[in-house]
This record gives sequence, C-alpha cells and structure tokens, in this order.
Amino acid sequence: MDALVKRFTASVPFDRRLAEVDIEASLAHARMLAARRILSRRDLAAIERGLARIRREIAAGQFAWSIDAEDVHLNIERRLTALVGDAGKRLHTARSRNDQVATDLRLWLRGEIDALQGRLAQLLRALVDQAERHAATVMPGFTHLQVAQPVTFGHHLLAYVEMLLRDRARLAACRTGLNQLPLGAAALAGTSFPIDRARVARALGFAGVCENSLDAVSDRDFAIEFCACASIAMMHLSRLAEELVLWSNPRFGFVRLPDRFCTGSSIMPQKKNPDVPELVRGKSARVFGDLVALLALMKSQPLAYNKDNQEDKEPVFDAVDTLSDALAVFADLVAGLEAVPEAMRAALREGYATATDLADYLVRHGLPFRDAHEAVARAVRHAELRGCDLAELPLAELQRFSKAIRADVYRYLSAEGSAAARRHRGGTAPAQVRAAARRARRRLRTPI
Ligand code: ARG
Repeated sequence: MDALVKRFTASVPFDRRLAEVDIEASLAHARMLAARRILSRRDLAAIERGLARIRREIAAGQFAWSIDAEDVHLNIERRLTALVGDAGKRLHTARSRNDQVATDLRLWLRGEIDALQGRLAQLLRALVDQAERHAATVMPGFTHLQVAQPVTFGHHLLAYVEMLLRDRARLAACRTGLNQLPLGAAALAGTSFPIDRARVARALGFAGVCENSLDAVSDRDFAIEFCACASIAMMHLSRLAEELVLWSNPRFGFVRLPDRFCTGSSIMPQKKNPDVPELVRGKSARVFGDLVALLALMKSQPLAYNKDNQEDKEPVFDAVDTLSDALAVFADLVAGLEAVPEAMRAALREGYATATDLADYLVRHGLPFRDAHEAVARAVRHAELRGCDLAELPLAELQRFSKAIRADVYRYLSAEGSAAARRHRGGTAPAQVRAAARRARRRLRTPI
C-alpha cells in the first residue's frame, strides 16, 4: 500500500481509545465460541492469556501501536497472534470488524454516558445547594434582558436544574436505546457458525441483541442521538455561561467568580476575564458541529457497512470530552460562586420591578387590568422624574394615580413582598424554592 494511502485509511491514531472495550468484547466472543465448541478450550486459554497481557501492555503504555495494522482491532489481533500463535488467528472466527467496531463503539459510549451522568449529577447538586442558600435572595428577573419582575436567585438557578434534569433523562434514554449487541451480524449477513448471541449480550451487559444484521453493522443513529443529547446539554450550559459572563461584569455585579476561574489580560493590568464561562459558551459550537458531522456522515450511505463510518469516532470522542470537561468545570465554578445581593437589589430598584405588583394590587381593588396598567405606567414615569423607586414615593403621591391605593400598598411594592406573593408550585416564593430544591434532590437520588 502507498504510504499516503496507508496514513489516509488508518484509524488507529484515534480509535486506540476503544482498546479496552475491544478486548472486553473479544473475550466475550471467544468464550462463546468455546462454549459452542467452535473454538477449543486450549485456544480459548491462549487467547485469554494473550489478551490479558495486551491489556497490561496498553495500560503501561508499552504497546507498540502501528498504522501498518490500520486500526485498533488489527493492532490487537496482530499482537495477539505474535504472542499466542494460531489461537490468535482463530479469534476472528464468526465475526467481522464491522460488527466488532459497532459493538466497541456502543460499549465505549455506554461507559462514557455513565461517567457523564456522574459529572452531571455533581453540577446539579452544586446548583441545588446554591439555590437553597439563595432561596430568599431577590434579584431582577429579565425578559428581553430588561428588568421585568423580582425573582429569587435560587429560583433562577433551579431553572437550570430543570434543564439539566431533562438532559439527564435524555442521556439515560440514549443509553437504553444503544444497549443492544451488534456482534453476530458479522460483515453484514450474519454467520454460518452456530453462535450464541444472547450469551455474548449477557456477558457484555447488553439488554438484548440487534434484530437485523444489516442494521447492526451500518447505522450509527445511537452516536447521532448521543451528540444530540450532548448538544442540547451544551446549549443549556452555554446559556448559563452567558449569564455568568453578564452577571460577573461590573455593570451587573450580581456574582463574583472564584479567582481561580478567571484570567488576566496580557496588556490590561486591571482585567479579570471570565474565560471559563466564555469557553463553555464557545465549546458548545464544536459539539453542535460534531452532531452535524455525524448526520452528514450517515446521510445517503447505502446499506450496509461503508468505510465512511470510520469517520464516526472523532466527533463522538470530541463530544464526550467537551461535555465532560464543561460539566466538571462548571460543577466546581457553581459551587464556588458568590452572589452579591446588594447589586441585585440595586438593579431591581432601577428597573421598577414591582410595577406589575402595583397593577395587580389595583385590580384586586376593582380596577380593570388595562386601567391599572395605565395608572401604574404614569406612576413609574413620575418616579423616574423623581429619581426613585415606586416604593420610595410617599403615599399621597401614589394616591394621585389611583384612589384605590392605601397604606398597605408598600407591602406589595417591596421585592420580597413581590416574590413571596408568587407562592404556587413553580413560583418564585422562597418557601416554594426550598420545596422545589428538596424535590430536585429527591429526583437526583432516584436512579435513572
Ligand atoms: N476501522 C474500521 C471502522 O472504524 C473498522 C471496520 C472496518 N471494516 C472494513 N470492512 N474495512 O469502521
């Protein structure tokens, strides 16, 4: 083979990451072959011994990977044959690299999803902890990025908890969907040997076997689905990242990021840059790219296996690595986040966040909502001219805008009063936030 072609077709520089699962799957396959008397006991023993040794060599960084053997599968098989002779050459009976690689990728991704779930749970716990700590800390809620109504910081953080709990469920569903064994499909049509697929499936922890051999070796929808799950999760993290960038900006000043998450500028000595959230925001783009790459890769491929599919690995690896790092770094960052309630309160005051509460007050005193809306708009304009918040206007001045206003109005004009009034399930009242945090903790403890 031409040297360039060899380099062009080789996948071992990246698919080496599958070595551990490749060995695991080979062991299960060999044991099944022996149980079915397709392979002798002696050959099985030799294969087990050889693979154990290869495992150790790889772990110790002593395995001599070579593009001469194209991919991870042939590298391991070649070494096995060098170690144990003909038994190594018999391992590939009743299988093909096509069902082998499909099995490896499913096994690998399953393990990575489990690890990701651990990291996701860590971030979720950090968010719930902060939400509980700030169940009563009022801040402006925004629409159109303009101050809208008071919410509690805890309530705001619990919105992300909901998003990430859905990501958790999506990942779990993806795991369930991919947990079927391709081995037995061989190259595409199945094998003429009397194999026992159910046995291999059990040994490898698969819930069942792929029903159709052509489908088993060719479709990578499970990888696409994973990248879709990862993309949605990264999209959520990117929104949180954007808010952290805004909130930590001195113009907002709502939070302080731990120093170890910030960097300085090489030229401006005063700078404290939120590089970590910015990078999480930026890295979401590459995961979306991974998803699109896989969709484009799969589209228009005729059945069954095509070499195109060798290109599936790098996007999947990249999506796993990027999401994994983003979750880990955010779990740590969120745990160390420091809220600045005074800055949140100052923003509330400037934004007339309780204007809706005044309108609701008037409605409860009999005004039609549209009239109340109009009266409050005038009151806000007046407060603006006076340079104060609605709650700072004297009663006599407030009463100019509606005769329905009484002294008890001030209870509703405070940010705390406004938040506390929204005390239904899903609302921002501190008691509701605490209850929602408790429920979130329980959901986190429930196995998925
Ligand atoms: N390295 C290949 C891949 O990743 C393994 C399967 C190769 N099969 C083949 N018929 N050439 O897809």
